[in-house]
Amino acid sequence: MRYCLLLSVILPLSFIGCTQKQEPTKPAPDLAAGKAIAEAKCSGCHGLNGGGAAPGIPHLAAQSPEYLLQSLYAYKEGIRHHAGLQDLAAHMSDTDLRNVAGYFASQPPIQNKEMQELPPSPYEKGKTAAAVCASCHGEDGNSTTPGIPTLAGQQPVYVVTATQEYLHGLRPISGMEPTLRGLRKLDLQNIALYFAVQTPVQRGAAPFGDAAAGEPLSGKCGGCHGARGVSNDAATPSLASQDPQYLLSAIKAYRDQARHHEIMNAQLAGTSDSDIENIVAFYTVQKPKAAEDRPISAKKLAEKCDRCHGAVVGRPTMTIPKIAGQDKDYLMMALRAYHDGKRGTSTMHRMTMPYTDTIIEDVASYYASQPAK
Ligand code: HEC
Ligand code: HEC
Ligand code: HEC
Ligand code: HEC
Repeated sequence: MRYCLLLSVILPLSFIGCTQKQEPTKPAPDLAAGKAIAEAKCSGCHGLNGGGAAPGIPHLAAQSPEYLLQSLYAYKEGIRHHAGLQDLAAHMSDTDLRNVAGYFASQPPIQNKEMQELPPSPYEKGKTAAAVCASCHGEDGNSTTPGIPTLAGQQPVYVVTATQEYLHGLRPISGMEPTLRGLRKLDLQNIALYFAVQTPVQRGAAPFGDAAAGEPLSGKCGGCHGARGVSNDAATPSLASQDPQYLLSAIKAYRDQARHHEIMNAQLAGTSDSDIENIVAFYTVQKPKAAEDRPISAKKLAEKCDRCHGAVVGRPTMTIPKIAGQDKDYLMMALRAYHDGKRGTSTMHRMTMPYTDTIIEDVASYYASQPAK
């Protein structure tokens, strides 16, 4: 046996035929016993065939048996929270759990029939929802009205934060009131994704100030806003080619503490009017760049996820569930739980941290529409 182990390091297993395991293996699950448990205790929700009976209930059919078993222990031990399942699992022996997991895993995969058509992407939804902003912010968010900021190419997290500042009365909302009040948070996230991809138009010189004199003054701003006003951080706005009138009033508002943001208030405290005009003149003529090159697409995102979830063999150190063809509502629920840190502090928490609800819905729809294997 030791000889076999040694050889198997050097040569592929199949080549030398060391099929026997080194460890004494657990007995194979008793599928008939597992079926009896499934029928009595699980089929009302998971179907006898392992198909979730309602939206939000996961399909168990053809799932990895190790993953099913691991989940059942997670409920039993209160690592995953679901009162009903914790109670069920608590009253089952290790053998019962292995048998029922083995039974569901052995069922043929369930296809989501109604999910073949994907809903519009967050980008498309954002484009539709952003139409009401165009009358003031311009076509595709390129403002041509002095005093109104360009939103084209702006950093998406910032656009959401800024809009919420108006809604919460932290910035005077003025003419935007009727338009913004009706927006749902999800619409707003979509709108921000849409604007992030639009190409911002390069502006000519500001009607005031001296760009050359503004350049050295912008030195201390570059660490956050990018060397020439193109920000790389989703929460920090780009300033390059922003409307000069708007920039002037925004900067003065920070300086005079009329707009509150600790960092910005500190950065601009005591700056003279003429220095501000020069800084604005500098940023007005800088070459702008959109925050995102292309719309974020679920398919592209899924390439990242498939490094683990798409692998045929999986990763030796991880038990990875199949997610293609899983119930959409369940996928959304699971991803939000990871995102919010309510389902373990796992790899998946890190994976889902950057994504808003609308991207989570998009990627859930994508996987739900994929054929189950
Ligand atoms: C009352 C309905 C209900 C019953 C009965 C039920 N489940 Fe579930 N099951 C659910 C729901 C809802 C979830 C998703 C819970 C969550 O968000 O973690 C779930 C999740 C699971 C999961 C995790 C799947 C995954 O993809 O992570 C497993 C495994 C599971 N159930 C097995 C069973 C077994 C085995 C039984 C019978 C012993 C059973 N369930 C009975 C509703 C039910
Ligand atoms: C009636 C005209 C009008 C409409 C319609 C309008 N806005 Fe505005 N918006 C403004 C004005 C004016 C400002 C500048 C206010 C200020 O100085 O704070 C502004 C500022 C903003 C800002 C701040 C940008 C920055 O760089 O800080 C955001 C974000 C914004 N609007 C989002 C929207 C969105 C999203 C919509 C559509 C759902 C919209 N606005 C519709 C007039 C409008
Ligand atoms: C430490 C990081 C940091 C530095 C340094 C910094 N900023 Fe900012 N700035 C921010 C952040 C973050 C925001 C967004 C604030 C918010 O959410 O309201 C912001 C917002 C702004 C805005 C509002 C833009 C808009 O669209 O409404 C302007 C204008 C601005 N900064 C100019 C400057 C200038 C000029 C300097 C240099 C004198 C500077 N900032 C230095 C982080 C910084
Ligand atoms: C580094 C490997 C890895 C990557 C990359 C990864 N996952 Fe996961 N995923 C896991 C592991 C491991 C689990 C099981 C964790 C647990 O037990 O909660 C999991 C669990 C899940 C679940 C729960 C499934 C169920 O049945 O409950 C979903 C949904 C999911 N991942 C979706 C995604 C999506 C979407 C992405 C891409 C944005 C992604 N994963 C990227 C390893 C990964």
